Amino acid sequence: MILNDIPHTPVLTKEVLEAFSDIKQGTIIDCTLGYGGHSEALLKSNDNIKIIGIDQDESAVLFSKKRLEDFGDRATILHGRFSDMISKIKSIDIKGVLADIGVSSLQLDDKKRGFGFDCDLLDMRMDKRNPLSAEDVVNGYEKEKLEEIFKNYGEVREYRKIADLIVKERAKKPFASAKELSSFISKHLRSKKIHPATLIFQAIRIEVNDELGELKRLLKNIRDLNLSNATVAIISFHSLEDRIVKKSFKEWSKNCICPPNAFRCECENNHSFGEILTKRPITAGDDEIGRNPRARSAKLRLFKTKL
Ligand SMILES: C[S@@+](CC[C@H](N)C(=O)[O-])C[C@H]1O[C@@H](n2cnc3c(N)ncnc32)[C@H](O)[C@@H]1O
Repeated sequence: MILNDIPHTPVLTKEVLEAFSDIKQGTIIDCTLGYGGHSEALLKSNDNIKIIGIDQDESAVLFSKKRLEDFGDRATILHGRFSDMISKIKSIDIKGVLADIGVSSLQLDDKKRGFGFDCDLLDMRMDKRNPLSAEDVVNGYEKEKLEEIFKNYGEVREYRKIADLIVKERAKKPFASAKELSSFISKHLRSKKIHPATLIFQAIRIEVNDELGELKRLLKNIRDLNLSNATVAIISFHSLEDRIVKKSFKEWSKNCICPPNAFRCECENNHSFGEILTKRPITAGDDEIGRNPRARSAKLRLFKTKL
């Protein structure tokens, strides 16, 4: 199937293919199928592998079903949250798990999704079935809760000031669109390199889609699958996410799970799930960043589970 307008350029594709290149046959779960770029590249790289692709965004699922239809039963596509879907997969030959966390370019660019600064909606839901939208967060959250998400998810320095201003403004008239919100923020926050509303929008998006909670549950559920000799590859775009991945991989690699204050090891010192393959995360080279600026903040971490 040839699709002329592929709305998303995947990041670190060469590095992802390299990471899974030792898999001779079996199934790779692509937890963030998106527009199928990574999955298609993996399916083309080896005729003996299958893909199970998951996405919570219905439009991504529909697009990828078309894109991957020529691979027949080598590509199975599931619609839902990766944290729910991954534990339901019963395949016995899972040899890889890939997650390319975050939003797709189409989600950001499509005016009907309410992620972008100039959208007429204030939505930001990756999954339309999600009961919480950006409008609920901006117009309904208590000031302290807004401060917390701007501080923790956006790392916004003036988080108190902007939460206070939003609460006062919405008391006069609730925010009805992303456009209104971004121009309001631009009047009150200064920023040289990025749009002044970037970090606030990022924080709201993370909250609406519970992105950090999803990542933590995903990692827990991958661990619970107890995979043998499988590669786990996680790409993240946010330092908080990268920290969560790094911490989980460190936990997974530990043999000793005794409490830190234990006098001596009493756990048999054999609890490691495998080894960390990337001491430091893999990042994109200048070439890729030149072609796809979104790759600038991508970090890929790899883990190999034991035999
Ligand atoms: C960066 S894009 C992935 C792009 C994909 N690798 C490609 O090659 O086109 C991230 C995708 O993950 C999906 N996503 C994010 N969080 C999710 C979750 N918790 N469960 C399922 N899908 C999720 C988004 O809807 C989006 O389509």
